[in-house]
Amino acid sequence: MSQARPTILKIGGSVITDKNTELGVQMEVITRIADELQEANPRNLIIVHGGGSFGHPVAQKHAIKEGFKEEQQIIGFAETHHVMTVLNGIFMDALIWRGIPAVSITPSSCAMTRNGRIQCFEDSPIKQLLKMGFIPVLYGDAVFDTELGFTILSGDQLVSFLAMRFNAKNILIGVDVDGLYNADPKDNPEAKMFDRLTLEELKKVKGFFGGSSACDVTGGMANKISELIPAVEQGIPALVFNATKPKYIYKVLKGDKVKGTLIEKE
Ligand code: IPE
Repeated sequence: MSQARPTILKIGGSVITDKNTELGVQMEVITRIADELQEANPRNLIIVHGGGSFGHPVAQKHAIKEGFKEEQQIIGFAETHHVMTVLNGIFMDALIWRGIPAVSITPSSCAMTRNGRIQCFEDSPIKQLLKMGFIPVLYGDAVFDTELGFTILSGDQLVSFLAMRFNAKNILIGVDVDGLYNADPKDNPEAKMFDRLTLEELKKVKGFFGGSSACDVTGGMANKISELIPAVEQGIPALVFNATKPKYIYKVLKGDKVKGTLIEKE
């Protein structure tokens, strides 16, 4: 029996955490997302969540992304990974107690990078989970790196990698803005949103998505989007939408139309 093509859903750290408070959780948002997942009852779904105010500040404090340079970073790596498991635990709690068969897969234990890019990835547990009807849940994590000793693997690189490895049907990127704009909508009221972009158009406007916010070790929206390019190039469409809006996750999982930016190969 061949496995149906999965959907990969990213839930940005800015959606489930309060980026202004270190270790601040958006509990009502997590609860709502869990309710929507329960209601949508999706099959063949892989979820990846971000780090927000859990992973980023700790990773930044200890310069984990830059790799191992000094002894004090060792505890920093352990702390970064730990806060991500704490955030993941809070998220998993909300899913499990609603009867959603989600199983957490720890990236630092199944992936290794080389200069920050995934080099090897043990995918057999995820294959098995999907085959048996579970929902694998992964997250951006502090991981081991063959050149750097360790680094940060963003949830977005993971999303693109998983989409290609599992020949995903589509990628859904839930963020805290409505889609991709030609300027930052948070400080420019004139900013215009794109409903659809082809890869060619995307490459032209990429520079406008804004760089990294104050505490985002993985490079903000511009980096998120550039990570998606290889998967879109393989013909996997990606929708960037606002996951802070009620019912949006439910709707995208049901295939209903929501406001957002659809990125397609052509
Ligand atoms: C970051 O993951 C993980 C760590 C900093 C440990 P992401 O880069 O996917 O997180 P968000 O979605 O931007 O918060």
